[in-house]
Amino acid sequence: MTSRYASSFCFLVVLSLASAEDIDGGFTLELIHRDSPKSPFYDPLETPSQRVGRAVSRSIARLAGGLRSNAPGDPYADINGNQGEYLIKIMIGTPPVDIMGSADTGSDLIWTQCKPCRSCFKQDVPMFDPSKSRTYVVVSYDSPKCKVFDNTSRSSQGLCEYHASYEDQSYSNGNIATDIISLGSTSGSSIRFSEMVFGCGYDNGGAFNTHTSGVVGLGGSDASLISQIGRRYGRIFSYCLVPFFLRSSSKINFGSTAHVAGRGTVSTPLIRRSQETFYYLTLEGISINGKKFTTSGSSHGTGEGNIIIDSGTTLTSLPHDLYKQVEPAISAAIHLPKVKDPSGSLNLCYQSSGDFKAAPNITVHFTGADVELNWYNAFVKVTEGIACLTFVPSSCDEVTYGNLAQMNFLIGYDIDGGKLSFKPADCTRR
Ligand SMILES: *[C@@H]1O[C@H](CO)[C@@H](O)[C@H](O)[C@H]1NC(C)=O
Ligand SMILES: *[C@@H]1O[C@H](CO)[C@@H](O)[C@H](O)[C@H]1NC(C)=O
Repeated sequence: MTSRYASSFCFLVVLSLASAEDIDGGFTLELIHRDSPKSPFYDPLETPSQRVGRAVSRSIARLAGGLRSNAPGDPYADINGNQGEYLIKIMIGTPPVDIMGSADTGSDLIWTQCKPCRSCFKQDVPMFDPSKSRTYVVVSYDSPKCKVFDNTSRSSQGLCEYHASYEDQSYSNGNIATDIISLGSTSGSSIRFSEMVFGCGYDNGGAFNTHTSGVVGLGGSDASLISQIGRRYGRIFSYCLVPFFLRSSSKINFGSTAHVAGRGTVSTPLIRRSQETFYYLTLEGISINGKKFTTSGSSHGTGEGNIIIDSGTTLTSLPHDLYKQVEPAISAAIHLPKVKDPSGSLNLCYQSSGDFKAAPNITVHFTGADVELNWYNAFVKVTEGIACLTFVPSSCDEVTYGNLAQMNFLIGYDIDGGKLSFKPADCTRR
């Protein structure tokens, strides 16, 4: 059993909303990276390499923070290391109120801070007031809706109270409720979902910043946005992450628009565990210029479901045994002067300007799916003139396929079909 660690698949999606039904059984939202010009976190004075450097530091912070394991049954998300790489905007209630949430594949519950607050963190957008929504309904402890989340208790009034705690010590307590949630599609229409279960949090704290009002869980279990809208659209979604250094927003697709198929598509089984939140894959090995190294032995990080795919983690952490073979092979293939990572966090760095042409061919072998990487999937310019390998050895059992490795692939999560697909893509065009 792996212990759980907060996969910080924190991503925030920002959408703009209108009001209409979609017609084709699927829809697409914008996924806004915190460093995109559309993000409230965007700092126009930063250079692209500073931006990437910062993302790497956040990822390192998250990896370092991921060592604490939680007790079984914990919901977890790491929202401290990065405060959400992406933002998602949803609207709750009638009339609808904007909610900016950390979109988080490492947790399930959708929750927002609610009035009246017992203890809340400061947020920039107005706080949701359930007494102003005509469609808000509190859920009683005996209702089946109280069971979608795994840590609830009966309040003195017989209501369903939830207690969400995250790996980084952040937490939210409040009432489980239902209301209409609207999502704005990139086509300009918005899609309404009635009776969506969410948390109305009146006691929230930890590493949240003022740009967010809560969390939008995109994990695999019942309470998540994916599972709840899955009743109508199927539990299927896909996203295409635009490389950091390009100024274009990324997209996340739901329903029929989320299918990934066509030339170049490869698929691998999506492994479910009793802990349904995370999306596990099986990593069999990595090839460097055609020479294959495999996950071997009986140590942690080998076997079925040995890696979590996480769009909120920046770096890719590999099982120790595999990393110990791969790093020297990459090092042997690159004939450039080595330098130290100025931030001191990455192991293998080179002096290089422009594209990192010296990178060897790297293929990641998942069961049934060989994924050929681009240089920027494995190396990052941490400052001007220095490129570093973005694979790191895992600490404990934390093995994660991070978002740099996913850039410019259309990645499809077909939860009901039990498979995950990769298709090489130019994400600025999708
Ligand atoms: C579950 O709720 C209790 C309070 O009822 C709380 O003390 C505990 O930390 C919660 N566990 C998790 C994993 O959130
Ligand atoms: C790297 O991949 C390219 C394209 O597939 C191929 O032409 C080239 O021979 C490969 N290089 C090595 C060293 O394997």
